[in-house]
Amino acid sequence: MTATVPEGVGLSELRAAAKGCQGCELWEPATQTVFGAGPETARIVFVGEQPGDQEDQRGEPFVGPAGRLLDRALGDAQIDREDAYVTNAVKHFRFRSTGKRRIHQSPDAVHIRACHPWLDAELALLTPEVVVCLGAVAAKALIAPSFRITKDRGRLLPRPVTLDEDAAVAQSWLLATIHPSAILRTPDEERDKAYEALVADLKVAASVLA
Ligand code: URA
Repeated sequence: MTATVPEGVGLSELRAAAKGCQGCELWEPATQTVFGAGPETARIVFVGEQPGDQEDQRGEPFVGPAGRLLDRALGDAQIDREDAYVTNAVKHFRFRSTGKRRIHQSPDAVHIRACHPWLDAELALLTPEVVVCLGAVAAKALIAPSFRITKDRGRLLPRPVTLDEDAAVAQSWLLATIHPSAILRTPDEERDKAYEALVADLKVAASVLA
């Protein structure tokens, strides 16, 4: 199963093409493709796991509870969300239904692989100075399948060097941190500490932009 990603097009054409993606079976029960959002000129890109229930309904990434927590953490790390591009490793909501509720299910490797061409195409069109992986799914997709968030979070890792239009060497970075949803699931007594650790990691990412 692979997606058919158009070549030589811009971000808006890519977004339009992704609407019809049937690269894996997740498209069918989902309401819609949730493509990335934000300015093409974003200096920082956030990559999450997959849209949640609210994102699936609204068609935008990180607009539910995890997105609100991310917004607060970005504010505390002095990163302007308006200047950030936000997307996901998998662009359809995977869930199981229990009567009225739709319960999030993590994507399998096959879904992450099938969706990877969209993420690659997005990142190729954007020229961020830093890409932040939110959680293990994004980190495994973009850094290495063996990547462990607990061990290697908050570290700036070099992305391949690219040449910008003026042929000057532009270095960019990858950094992985905990997913905001994991903080929402953290027991009350440990949640503040987990949140502060997220903000500390985001400040490392922000230091690239300073
Ligand atoms: N969690 C994610 O990883 N992405 C979203 O867009 C929402 C919740």
